[in-house]
Amino acid sequence: MCGIVGCVLKENRDAAPILFRCISNLEYRGYDSVGLATFDNKINVKKAKGKIRDVNASLNLENMAGKYGIAHTRWASAGRPTDENAHPHLDEKGRVAVVHNGTLENYSKLKEKLIGEGHTFKSTTDTEVIPHLIEKHMDEGLDLEHALRKTVEMLKGSYAIVAMCEDEAGKIVATRKDSPLSLGFGKEGYFVASDTPAILEYARDVIRPREGEIAVLSKNGIEIHDENDKTIERKPSKITWTADMAKKEGYDYFMLKEINDQPLAVKNTLGQKNNMKRIINEIGDVKRVCFVACGTSYHASITGKYLIESLAGISCDVIIASEFKYSAKTWDEDTLVVFISQSGETADSMTALRQAKQTSHTLAIVNVAGSAMWEEADHVIQTQAGPEIGVAATKTYLGQLTAIYLLAAAISGNDKITEELENVPSYIEEVISKADEIKELSKRYNFVHNAFYLGRGFSYPIALEGALKLKEISYVHGEGYAAGELKHGPLALVDEDMPVIVIIPPGADYDKTLTNLEEVRARGASILAVGSEGNDDLKSKSKEMISINPKVTDIIAPLVYTVPLQLLAYYVTVEKGYNPDQPRNLAKVITV
Ligand code: AGP
Repeated sequence: MCGIVGCVLKENRDAAPILFRCISNLEYRGYDSVGLATFDNKINVKKAKGKIRDVNASLNLENMAGKYGIAHTRWASAGRPTDENAHPHLDEKGRVAVVHNGTLENYSKLKEKLIGEGHTFKSTTDTEVIPHLIEKHMDEGLDLEHALRKTVEMLKGSYAIVAMCEDEAGKIVATRKDSPLSLGFGKEGYFVASDTPAILEYARDVIRPREGEIAVLSKNGIEIHDENDKTIERKPSKITWTADMAKKEGYDYFMLKEINDQPLAVKNTLGQKNNMKRIINEIGDVKRVCFVACGTSYHASITGKYLIESLAGISCDVIIASEFKYSAKTWDEDTLVVFISQSGETADSMTALRQAKQTSHTLAIVNVAGSAMWEEADHVIQTQAGPEIGVAATKTYLGQLTAIYLLAAAISGNDKITEELENVPSYIEEVISKADEIKELSKRYNFVHNAFYLGRGFSYPIALEGALKLKEISYVHGEGYAAGELKHGPLALVDEDMPVIVIIPPGADYDKTLTNLEEVRARGASILAVGSEGNDDLKSKSKEMISINPKVTDIIAPLVYTVPLQLLAYYVTVEKGYNPDQPRNLAKVITV
């Protein structure tokens, strides 16, 4: 998710130092480019690829004349991180400046049409169509506000947009859909921002505009207009958070915020459906697939294997990246080797990618644009989870899974599964609404030293991921097993002191998993079942149960049943007094 700030100052002083300070408050997320536009008789823009501090050192962003302006930090999605792709973007005549957060699904068609009408483009971003559309509508006679309204009516996708135009000096307009935006009322002036922490130093009275509304900022205040141009009166809320709390949007830790971001991560990544189809068409006939990844990304890959084999009926392997070299020679030009990585930088995966490129087609599914894998793979899909700060992967994992479902659908030509995924964000929201219940449950587990996680088929990688989350942040030894493997050794460890978490959604494997649950129950294990709501039989056989929407069956369970296990690991960790965002000995990016 990119960062946006805009401000109009009341007094006669330059806005750039304030804009720069506000945008620097978002630096902790690790953006890839930055830019500012201010108005001083004309629009001035300074922007470049790089970290905020480095770009400021070379461009002196803080030193720009003008009492108002807009600023942006970019987390690249459509278009690589380059100077040209950095925001703000301008129209043909350089009179309209725009910053945008979100993803426009129909920008290619709009761009093509605008080019046909004589517009020229400097970047490869989706955003650049916005200033050109605003320009076109202003040329037709509309003012800035109505040109923005007409523009957003043409956009498909998510957006928070902030725009200014030379012809209407002293004014900034802003609107949003599926992307956050806050309006701030401060002593020095009026603000708009994608993230409240950015402006908290200057404005603590905040209004969040609703979808369809347009905010107009001037030195006299902020007006909010609805779709019928009616002025909306809404009282600002006083933000009492500290800057640190605000960065986490009020959550105690980034991990909890990021768990809560997951419905949007899935929804936004579903927008990659056409890109995925295009890539698979370009590659042509895929006869074999091999996933390569580490850690959580490896668990996403196992789900990928089951999906591709069941939907597309072709052979699929999953290899831990550090082990790839031992079988690299068996891949050929009919194989698609898929690299899964949130960071796109993991050293073992990079080494494997370079090897795989010698024989096969390569596709990288990464969350960070411009990362090493993004640059080097033959094809790339970006998961739309936005920046993830917590070391434990949560929303990037769900983003990876979503992209993998799109891959399986594209290879198999079976779109039914992606239709089912449309409901997943609401299923995840339902699980998240049970957070307090899971928090209470965690108190009954925080004394344990070991736990088993069991699952079959699509629930097997859920078990692996649940156990990894527990061990990496709470330092409790969690181990995930394919439920059928238990009797081949680990069952010896099961007694009254061993909690066993059984992932048992409805579906083809339900009865067999229930048999495994009975096996551990007979050994006195304390069972926590994660199963379908209303399943009283399961409830009666378990000590505890987390109930999930009954419509979630085994094939989409990885996207939903993983969430309570993330929450359980999180609350056990917090209960123990550890910081889940920064587990000992681990790092977010592993480049060695
Ligand atoms: C999971 O919570 C960890 N952060 C870790 O297992 C991670 O998934 C692994 O190191 C791979 O990283 P990548 O996705 O950036 O390649």
